[in-house]
Amino acid sequence: MRVLGIETSCDETAAAVVTEAGDVLSDVVRSQVALHAPYGGVVPEVAARDHARAIVPVIEEALRKAGLTAQDLDGVAVTVRPGLLGALLVGLSTAKGLAWAAGKPLVGVDHLVGHLMAVFLRREGVEARAPEFPFVALLVSGGHTALYRVDGPALGQIRELGATRDDAAGEAFDKVAKLLGLGYPGGPVVDRLAALGDASRAAEALPKPMARRDSLEFSFSGIKTAVARHVAQRAAQQGGPLEGQALHDLCAAFQGAVVDTLVRKTVRAARQEGVTRVVLGGGVAANRGLRARMTEECGRRGIEVFIPPFASCTDNAAMIAYAGALRLAAGERDDLDLAPATRTSL
Ligand code: KG4
Ligand code: ZN
Repeated sequence: MRVLGIETSCDETAAAVVTEAGDVLSDVVRSQVALHAPYGGVVPEVAARDHARAIVPVIEEALRKAGLTAQDLDGVAVTVRPGLLGALLVGLSTAKGLAWAAGKPLVGVDHLVGHLMAVFLRREGVEARAPEFPFVALLVSGGHTALYRVDGPALGQIRELGATRDDAAGEAFDKVAKLLGLGYPGGPVVDRLAALGDASRAAEALPKPMARRDSLEFSFSGIKTAVARHVAQRAAQQGGPLEGQALHDLCAAFQGAVVDTLVRKTVRAARQEGVTRVVLGGGVAANRGLRARMTEECGRRGIEVFIPPFASCTDNAAMIAYAGALRLAAGERDDLDLAPATRTSL
């Protein structure tokens, strides 16, 4: 089975062709990040307009790279939720038109299910281990931060164990980077600077980003506010922005605190569920501090950690195509009146 996936929920216009075994035949991602960078975050109207410009060429490229035409497909999968409504509509309308014109089944996919299934994608030349079910998944991106118990790919087999009550972890990285004048998106820069810093020299300025200690919920708005306060105090004392070693130390302390919470709660979730496999997903899974701490802490407790390659962690259409292929293989399909939604159904 060969399924075309289409993803336009946020700021990536993406299309990919994937088999039901997870083999990635093509994977095209066109990022809008440069368009949104001047605003320090994604502007919904700008996103929708750019998706409309890019979607057809991106799909054509995905089909061409897979060596296929629309007629060769066994179905069209598309992200229907969650996301920016105008952005989702572009992908969904295009998917409907294509499915109808080519006479192929249409399946809607929850973007978060896509992220949770991305660990099963098989990319040519990339060594990847796939976990067995059940596993606990930590999904950390600019839009979502949550823990799930995953017993299988269907909606009824995925249970949310805890989510953020305010900002997503990636959003916290982006906002802190903006406060520090480091540009957008902030995660990769903070990650790089944190490696040059010493967290212990700035840690006392920051609270532990915990919603209640014993819960599996997250909260990142407090630490962001603490960074803002710290930056303002330093500027008042020294008459200038934070730079050099002090900047590196603050990045290390911020990242250390965020990673600490993510790792602790993931380990707690795995223990609570009696599960010995942990999967990471989302753009923040690229964070070197997170990968190292998660691998170390889980390893010590006999929990196996699965971290997909970066291209599978960030927003892409291959994960949507694969999750759609699993739905099609289970005999499911959607009607042409399928409607987008801003919230997840998980
Ligand atoms: O999954 P993604 O591409 O898009 C969604 O938000 O759905 O994730 C993007 C997020 C951004 O917030 C970015 O700052 C963060 O992932 N990110 C990182 C790193 N690389 C990307 N955060 C921390 N460390 C990184 N190395
Ligand atoms: Zn995402």
